[in-house]
Amino acid sequence: MCGIVGYIGKRDVAPLLLEGLQRLEYRGYDSAGVVITGKSGVLKTVKAKGRVRELEARIPKRFTGTTGIAHTRWATHGAPNDENAHPHLDADGKVALVHNGIIDNADDLRAKLIADGVEFTSETDSEVVVHLIGRSQADTLEAKVQEALRRIEGTYGIAVMHQDFPDRIVVARNGSPVVLGIGDKEMFVASDVAALVSHTRQVVTLDDGEMATLKADDFRTYTTEGSTTSATPTTVEWEAESYDMGGHDTYMHKEISEQPDAVDRVLRGRIDDRFSTVHLGGLNLDPREARSVRRIKILGCGTSYHAGQIGAQMIEELARIPSDAEPASEFRYRNPVVDPDTLYIAVSQSGETYDVLAAVQELKRKGARVLGVVNVVGSAIARETDGGVYVHAGPEVCVVSTKCFTNTVVAFGLLALHLGRIRDLSVADGKRIIAGLRKLPAQIAEMLEGEAEIEKLAAEYAGAKSMMFIGRVRGYPVAREASLKLKEISYIHAEAYPASELKHGPLALIEPALPTVAIVPDDELLEKNRAALEEIKARSGRILAVAHQVQEKADHTIVVPKNEVELDPILMGIPLQLFAYHTAKAMGRDIDKPRNLAKSVTVE
Ligand code: F6R
Repeated sequence: MCGIVGYIGKRDVAPLLLEGLQRLEYRGYDSAGVVITGKSGVLKTVKAKGRVRELEARIPKRFTGTTGIAHTRWATHGAPNDENAHPHLDADGKVALVHNGIIDNADDLRAKLIADGVEFTSETDSEVVVHLIGRSQADTLEAKVQEALRRIEGTYGIAVMHQDFPDRIVVARNGSPVVLGIGDKEMFVASDVAALVSHTRQVVTLDDGEMATLKADDFRTYTTEGSTTSATPTTVEWEAESYDMGGHDTYMHKEISEQPDAVDRVLRGRIDDRFSTVHLGGLNLDPREARSVRRIKILGCGTSYHAGQIGAQMIEELARIPSDAEPASEFRYRNPVVDPDTLYIAVSQSGETYDVLAAVQELKRKGARVLGVVNVVGSAIARETDGGVYVHAGPEVCVVSTKCFTNTVVAFGLLALHLGRIRDLSVADGKRIIAGLRKLPAQIAEMLEGEAEIEKLAAEYAGAKSMMFIGRVRGYPVAREASLKLKEISYIHAEAYPASELKHGPLALIEPALPTVAIVPDDELLEKNRAALEEIKARSGRILAVAHQVQEKADHTIVVPKNEVELDPILMGIPLQLFAYHTAKAMGRDIDKPRNLAKSVTVE
């Protein structure tokens, strides 16, 4: 979603800001803009609908300065056009603001400001904030921003410049990420470390309710009420190169191919052969507490929700704790009964998804214990939860998730083993699961070698208008995730059903023009799955099976290596990532930036 970049220092600011915006492109946006303090001390702004390269084309030759802020906008209030693009300026053109998030009381404030004679130049909710700052009579920029923030309700990550205070940028956070990057006599700010890591890996992540003043050689943090806060910089572990395409034609392809290494990373240093278990250092759940958990509820959105569904099954199987997953976006709105014996687990790759964060905050408010399974270290959800497991997938740039999904599921495998071994999972079973986990990186690499075959299959199925994905029990969330992946990047309509539900309705859809992708592991449900294939074949449906052995009734089978039954879901989804990728490629889709989607959904 929207992205913020800012810089104050000695270097020419415009190229730095444009580079930062390019690094945020993956989050999804529809317009971009930049403001700098020009040589004369006057603010200079350029905005453009469309891509960052269109903004770049509009930047005049003498657009030089050493302080500036920039933005990529994802339209929420008002169409994507030049006027609605950020930065926004106050009536005198002295204050500039970029804003991520949503101002809930914007309509009210706008009406009041209009009544006071303010003329608006955009339809955005953000513009009200810059007018409030511009009209404040306070003496300092910090106090002007604080006064404005007191009047607004909603979420924000903002960066503000003021012509009368040219030595500083003031930033504030409430529900939308703001990260400071500390350089040598220069300071950066961004909504995502991706925009910072090529310049500095020393960062400070603001908390909700926190603000900062950035000067070239100094920064300070404080609350919106004005009390000083302590900010200790941390080092970002991700390298700048992780954000490059590395010879692949898309980030999605790069990220799919990185999975053997990514899975190796989530396992590294965690396996304890002596006790046939794993160490999860950040869990903050001692054995006594783990034993007293009566139920586990996993919350996430989209792909992370699917990973949570697989995780719930793993926990239930290995630790025998009743577990289920629910979309966080639904959970937070249904006034859920929060039970003290239930352990809640929030799953999020970005750690910033608003629906998940809001669910966590609601749970915490009601006194629940909430753990996180998160990829981005230090992200809002990671900090809001009581402990958790980092999934160590590395940065994921493609809007659709692949390696983060796989690593999240492996992280759940570790958690399930850990909880299982504290409860009733035997040493022998612990050993068996550990052996299975260790096999994963090589098995994933083996599957990736079969890419050419999958590419051929994708070309055959790319003409379908609609596809059905089916799986049973462990295979069902795999089918759901595979169907989501296909629809997100190819725009082919896809449905996912439990194979057991076919005859209760969806069988009516089966005909030669509706291919079915069936997840058919060699587990205790193999014969039942085969019966579903028979039913489809009897209606002349085409079948692509993902299975441990060639399926006679299927037109094609992608054979995947066998692991332990509990871990099979980790492997069975991987060829279907490649299937979605090659289908979308055959259809000429913009794979890394699917229409209407953003990488990190930080608004409702
Ligand atoms: C789809 C995808 C999304 C995200 C969802 C939640 O490929 O990536 O469905 O999983 O928007 O995002 P996170 O995991 O960052 O909370």
